[in-house]
Amino acid sequence: MSVTMIIAIDGPAASGKSTTAKIIADRLDLLYLDTGAMYRAVALYLSAKGIDSADENALRSALEDIDIYFQQIDGSYHIFLNAVDVSSDIRVPHITKMSSEVACIREVRERMVEMQREIAGGHDVILDGRDIGTVVFPNADYKFYLTASLDSRALRRFKEQHEKGIDCDLSEIRVQLAWRDENDSQRAFAPLKKADDAIEIDTTHLSIDQQVEGILQVITATTGERQ
Ligand code: CDP
Repeated sequence: MSVTMIIAIDGPAASGKSTTAKIIADRLDLLYLDTGAMYRAVALYLSAKGIDSADENALRSALEDIDIYFQQIDGSYHIFLNAVDVSSDIRVPHITKMSSEVACIREVRERMVEMQREIAGGHDVILDGRDIGTVVFPNADYKFYLTASLDSRALRRFKEQHEKGIDCDLSEIRVQLAWRDENDSQRAFAPLKKADDAIEIDTTHLSIDQQVEGILQVITATTGERQ
């Protein structure tokens, strides 16, 4: 039986999880799974179809109709929702807010977790999200919890949006991040929290290279022990 490696990276919004995870996936030749993009895709689907997430029947049938897969195109990761590339559409502010709202719904979470386990199945994989080390893969080989101050996360997200040519306001981004942190941490199902056995890394004063190296050191120092 082949043994697979699972790396879980959790943490609050804009803490550098996906940038870090993508680089590590590349360096260690792992499959990368952006679970946040999946909640965003659900939000986009409901929004586009005008489905009220409080309507249980409509939500159930929407979740049955949703097909999500990822593809790497020219080195960058794309998400497809029912065969349509929605990689940019899922990043607009109202979908970002809505993703955190739909992520509170138990049925949505159950379906996403099922899909995440299916996609990851049998692969060496690195996943980033909020509940990877606590719920999706509680037995992951490595668990990291990335944090950073609210100000530095807001600034990073602002720069990221700015570089993409998206008009945005730093103080508004800060307010939205704080709202999402609170909403994600307080929800009843699979709230954002550090797994007891996760290694916490405060990236406030770290460069991307430094945080990647920190994680790689932990992994390479112990891979010999894995069997
Ligand atoms: O990139 P950013 O950190 O801003 O957010 P994201 O990872 O794309 O996640 C968007 C939203 O999806 C979060 O605010 C969470 O509410 C939700 N999410 C979740 O509940 N569980 C996950 N495993 C991943 C994301």
